[in-house]
Amino acid sequence: MGLDSKSSSTIQPDYDRNAELTAFDETKTGVKGLVDAGFTEVPRIFHLPTPENLNYSSEQHSAPTLPTIDLKGIDDEDPIRRKQVIEKVKDALESWGFFQIVNHGIPESVLEGMKEGVLRFFEQDSEVKKEWYTRDLKRRLVYNSNFDLYSAPVTNWRDTFYCTMAPVPPHPNELPPPCRDILLEYSKQVMKMGICLLELIAEALGLDPNHLLDMGCAEGLAVLGHYYPSCPQPELAIGTTSHNDNDFITILLQDHIGGLKVFYQDQWIDVPPIPGALVVNAGDLLQLITNDKFVSSQHKVVANKVGPRISVASFFTTGMVQTSKVFEPIKELLSEDNPAKYRGTTVKEYLEHFFRKGLDGTSALNHFMI
Ligand code: OGA
Ligand code: NI
Repeated sequence: MGLDSKSSSTIQPDYDRNAELTAFDETKTGVKGLVDAGFTEVPRIFHLPTPENLNYSSEQHSAPTLPTIDLKGIDDEDPIRRKQVIEKVKDALESWGFFQIVNHGIPESVLEGMKEGVLRFFEQDSEVKKEWYTRDLKRRLVYNSNFDLYSAPVTNWRDTFYCTMAPVPPHPNELPPPCRDILLEYSKQVMKMGICLLELIAEALGLDPNHLLDMGCAEGLAVLGHYYPSCPQPELAIGTTSHNDNDFITILLQDHIGGLKVFYQDQWIDVPPIPGALVVNAGDLLQLITNDKFVSSQHKVVANKVGPRISVASFFTTGMVQTSKVFEPIKELLSEDNPAKYRGTTVKEYLEHFFRKGLDGTSALNHFMI
């Protein structure tokens, strides 16, 4: 795991990295701005300590395949069908922490519309887009390149916007016109989907279907629109550094390009694009409250010559909103043989630690272990 090892964060660069990061940040046009300016080489702030082995995925003949779960019929009050699906969700979250879903009920037009909306946001007039560029996390819509620009060891070949949709929904005027309507529509559908998944997940834990919802796992929703520009030297850079998600669950919509990989049984496995499918994964907070029964797996996105790649990640979390709710391992899942592995924390306290650390290939959960 050399590439993602802790050591990368301790290597001191032999150039004024901070000055170059600041200059990049001040352009307010992100990685897309570099590509538009005609850069044919990846600037050194993006360089990986060890080049990425991009041939890896073509050598995956015998590699395990990520499970795909067909949700067709789960609302038909057919208890047998529902039980089958719950069993699959349980298996997938115990081993992979990841799965894809098909026949989930979100119309194709909404999925396509959302990807187009993200593309329109990033490809709008750059002077207008700059108005949204910020590192002030209290802003409703935060567009920037690399949320952890000044703390992470490697800058990612990616631009992102982040928008809090729940518990307090935005006023339409707070949203950028290129994706305003679709962002509201998509979020509504994703919230419904998330509630349905959290019910299945609760049942997969042997709990009442409402257990996770009653705890507040679907109270908060943040939608992230990612834009991965075409990269001239993909082996030197990374789209998203290996990380674990900082939420309860994530529902990810990706386009047809690919590049997302999950770390499973000591190897990086592709999360292949499937038209109409959504990717679901457990975040650290689900791992914490399930006391490691369900795992939040490391994943990353490789850089690609083909681009831009668009993805939309919907994070079930209340984010930086101050709440008094303390999350700790669920009592019903604990026993003498399975004592709590984590101390309780609020979502905000957990996130503050996550942000302070930045994406460095290590898990933010370690900090909360007993
Ligand atoms: C994320 C993430 C993957 C992707 O937003 O946390 O892992 O494909 N995104 O963009
Ligand atoms: Ni992620």
